[in-house]
Amino acid sequence: MSEPQLVKRLEEAIESIPDFPKDGILFRDITPIFLNPDLYEDIIGEFVNFSRGKIDAVCGIESRGYLFGIAIAVALKVPFVLIRKAGKLPPPFVAESYDLEYGSAEIEMRTGQIKAGQRILIHDDLLATGGTTEAAAKLVEKQGATVSQFSFLIGLKDLQGENRLKDFNAEIFSIIEY
Ligand code: PRP
Ligand code: HPA
Repeated sequence: MSEPQLVKRLEEAIESIPDFPKDGILFRDITPIFLNPDLYEDIIGEFVNFSRGKIDAVCGIESRGYLFGIAIAVALKVPFVLIRKAGKLPPPFVAESYDLEYGSAEIEMRTGQIKAGQRILIHDDLLATGGTTEAAAKLVEKQGATVSQFSFLIGLKDLQGENRLKDFNAEIFSIIEY
């Protein structure tokens, strides 16, 4: 569980915008966090405490998963690996498709950047349905590495994304839940 004071500061910083990008969605906008370097630093500290000594690399999901993911990896002195949306990475890469509300999407990771047997943290800014993160975890396993941890700034509890991650037997951490 996160420090209550940090959760309160996050509640104040994150803006909730109704009906964006579609009717019925309450969008959690994290951009104000980056106006406040002290808050950013404390968020990274929280993520680093969760992962210290437990991982060999961080895989971050495009694009908002890079905002904290790189800083976590640098602080822990482990590699950072980019998971990108389809069509952006040169070969060789591994790919995994996942379902969206309408249609499907694909994410990719360059081969050889994580190694068999490594303990991996998959990091993203937000866990919603879990589809993106589940696909990222499959990419990691395809390469013989182990998903040891998932971390998110925000978990949207009602969407039950954690259920889709249970089979990986990894620790799951969200700093703030809505
Ligand atoms: C958002 C968010 C997660 C994903 C969560 O990314 O940053 O990656 O959706 O949704 P899910 O749990 O239902 O799969 P988005 O695709 O909006 O991309 P962005 O980070 O580039 O804004
Ligand atoms: N906020 C921000 N990003 C998102 C959300 C949200 O509520 N749901 C899926 N991606």
